[in-house]
Amino acid sequence: MAKENLSVWTSIPFWRRSAAWVTGFAVILLIWLTFDTMGQISMGTDEDLKNGVDKRVPAATVINYNIDYQMSKKRGHEVPVIGKKEPFFGKEWSGEEAAALLHLGKLTSQAKNCMNCHTLLGNGAYYAPDLTKAWIDPMWKDGGPMQGMTGKSTKEEAMAEFLMNPSQYPTHARMMPNLGITADEAKGLVAFLKHMSSIDTNGFPRNFSKTVEQFKAGGTNAH
Ligand code: HEC
Repeated sequence: MAKENLSVWTSIPFWRRSAAWVTGFAVILLIWLTFDTMGQISMGTDEDLKNGVDKRVPAATVINYNIDYQMSKKRGHEVPVIGKKEPFFGKEWSGEEAAALLHLGKLTSQAKNCMNCHTLLGNGAYYAPDLTKAWIDPMWKDGGPMQGMTGKSTKEEAMAEFLMNPSQYPTHARMMPNLGITADEAKGLVAFLKHMSSIDTNGFPRNFSKTVEQFKAGGTNAH
C-alpha cells in the first residue's frame, strides 16, 4: 500500500508537529499572562496616591486616606474609591511606618489564623464574615453601632478594641473568641484590613453592596 494514501490523522509527524506548536504557544501565552498579572498586582507607591493614579493594590500609605466603595456603572460592580486624607490612629503614617504596621498586621493575621474562620480576598473559611471589605462595613462608621458599643470615637479604635476583646462585643449568633491580640497587633490588623478594603477586587465579594443596603434599611449587621 502506498504511504501517501494514509489519512493525515494517522500520521505521526503531524501529531508531533502539532504537539510542538501547541506547547510553544502555551508557553508564550503563560509568560505573557505572568507579566500582565505581575503588573496588575504589584503594589503602587505613595506618589501614585498623591497623584491620584489608581492602582489595583495601593501603597501601604493608603491607610492615611478615607476609603469608600462606590458603584461603577462602566464596570458593573463596586470599586474602592480613595478619598481625602484622614488621620489613622490620630496621625499620618510615613511610608516606612505604614509598611511596618501593615507587615505586623499581616504576620498577626497569619499567626492567629484569621482565615480559619474568615475569608480574606477569597481565601479562607465561611464560618465568620468575609473580611475583604470589613473596613467599609457600615457597622464601624461614625454613628454606627460598633463605635457606640466599644465607647470609641473612631472606626480604627473601635475595630482595634473589638479585636482585642471580641467576646465582649458580640454582634452575631456566632461569637469571635478572644485570641490574645495585643494593642500593637490590633493596630496592625486594622491597618491590614483597611489596606485590604482599598484593593480593587473586581467587585468581590459580590453580595457586599446588597448587604450594606439591607443594613441601611434597618438591619443590625451588614452580613
Ligand atoms: C474561631 C473563629 C474566628 C477566628 C480565628 C477569627 N475570627 Fe473574627 N469573627 C469570628 C466571628 C464568629 C465573628 C462574628 C462575631 C461578631 O461580630 O461578634 C467575627 C467577627 C470579626 C470582625 C467583625 C466583622 C466585620 O464585618 O466587621 C472582624 C473585623 C474580625 N472578626 C477580624 C478577625 C481577625 C483580624 C482575625 C485574626 C486575627 C479573626 N477575626 C479571627 C470568628 C473568628
